[in-house]
Amino acid sequence: MTDTVDAAARWEQAGVRLEVADTLATVTLCHPDRRNAQTPALWRALAEIGSALPGTVRVVLLRAEGVSFSAGLDRAAFAPEGIPGEVSFVEIAKRPDGESVIAEYQAGFTWWRRADLVTIAAVQGHAIGAGFQLALACDLRVVAEDVQFSMKETALGLVPDLTGTKPLVDLVGPARALEICGTGRYVHADEAVRLGLANVSVPRGELDAAARDLAAALLAAPRNALIETKALLAGAGARTLDEQSAAERAAQVRRLRDLAGIGD
Ligand code: CAA
Repeated sequence: MTDTVDAAARWEQAGVRLEVADTLATVTLCHPDRRNAQTPALWRALAEIGSALPGTVRVVLLRAEGVSFSAGLDRAAFAPEGIPGEVSFVEIAKRPDGESVIAEYQAGFTWWRRADLVTIAAVQGHAIGAGFQLALACDLRVVAEDVQFSMKETALGLVPDLTGTKPLVDLVGPARALEICGTGRYVHADEAVRLGLANVSVPRGELDAAARDLAAALLAAPRNALIETKALLAGAGARTLDEQSAAERAAQVRRLRDLAGIGD
């Protein structure tokens, strides 16, 4: 119990809160005064939250308080001394294990794609850099009409490294992804929907309700069928038509056995 309280307090300090109501978990970025700027402490908290989710949870809703979903990496990271208490950019550059430092950061972004969960980001205002990548970490995105996605890393002399490049390319294709990352320009709501970056765009005041409605609709599907369907669709891009057809058959037989109560 004390551990849970300690963890919740640590997460809140890092800028994130977890609420669980049976099958639905809500993860809220809660430093709106800083435009939900991100730090390695936040990424560690996100990774811990992923591990701490109870087995009942089937859908995770990621939302943010305030006018902006997230203004990306805390600007303090760009100073030579970096964010107090964290490994600075200069240290990452010098350390032989610099990549392992980044691997730890990425752990806050990878679990959202877990096969047993469907994750939804509700995104308003700015989603810049790490903010854009966090939204891309989720399976689905519901956006407000004022959303502004920007992949700003390249303009800052870096690359997007928080697991966002693959979902971006998968969603919009390599040429559009290069243009979005290379220019760092804003992608607004209409374009985001047109490109497939966002599932739907709604007025700002309806964002939370729209995301909750989508969560409820997903929760209405039988759990194991949704898990199988997500795995089937997630693997489709890497399979040939024959392989995908075989995967459909195998998944369907598993479903039929499950529905008929026939064990493995
Ligand atoms: N880090 C720390 N604080 C930030 C922040 C950030 N990235 N972005 C905004 N804030 C803080 C501001 O300092 C300000 O705080 P004070 O009120 O204490 O002064 C508060 O949030 C509000 O910010 P603004 O007054 O700037 O708000 P705005 O609505 O006029 O503008 C914004 C919003 C366009 C997002 C602007 O704040 C901005 O450009 N922020 C920086 C965006 C950025 O470059 N992020 C880094 C991208 S790169 C990355 O994320 C990944 C990587 O690996 C490099």
